[in-house]
Amino acid sequence: MKKVILLGIFAGTLIVSCGKKDEVPDYAKNREVETEQTAPSLDTPEVANADDPMSNKGVGPVKSLEIPETIDQDMAAAGKEIYDSKCTACHKPTVKFIGPAQKGLLDRRTPEWAMNMILNPEEMIQKDPIAKQLLAEANGAPMANQGLTEEEARQVLEYIRTIE
Ligand code: HEC
Repeated sequence: MKKVILLGIFAGTLIVSCGKKDEVPDYAKNREVETEQTAPSLDTPEVANADDPMSNKGVGPVKSLEIPETIDQDMAAAGKEIYDSKCTACHKPTVKFIGPAQKGLLDRRTPEWAMNMILNPEEMIQKDPIAKQLLAEANGAPMANQGLTEEEARQVLEYIRTIE
């Protein structure tokens, strides 16, 4: 007997809650529409740069790096050799290939972020908002860790500065 009563209460609650679902108040409907209109699209550059790229140092071994104004040509020449042998499978200096074009890198990224992307790409694409966005833009093709030393990465960065 008790069970029947309980069941009855349960069924009653179900009917009431189902009934409520259909009655979406007008204010709630309007709100839904509003949210849709103002939700940012993931494709917009504002979202890619939402984390303020020029204050983002990325995740990895390089915490602070000063770049002198004048380009060190010897360092750049050493960097070009490394770049040509280890990076051109996926990058071209001035046009997008599998990865982004390298031209103007330091206009859009901090030197620390660039170094960490070269030295620690696995963690960067997992944790860094810009790297995650780039991975999506590369259709999920991940930047490869080429096992460079910090010195070699710095030389490559110097070469990238010479790309016009
Ligand atoms: C296997 C392909 C591959 C190789 C090899 C590779 N990269 Fe990448 N790189 C990518 C992809 C793809 C991205 C975009 C991020 C992603 O999808 O993970 C990227 C992103 C980058 C970025 C960030 C670009 C930006 O505009 O912010 C830098 C810097 C970079 N790579 C430097 C290098 C350097 C230097 C080398 C050589 C030592 C190299 N990459 C080798 C595929 C590669």
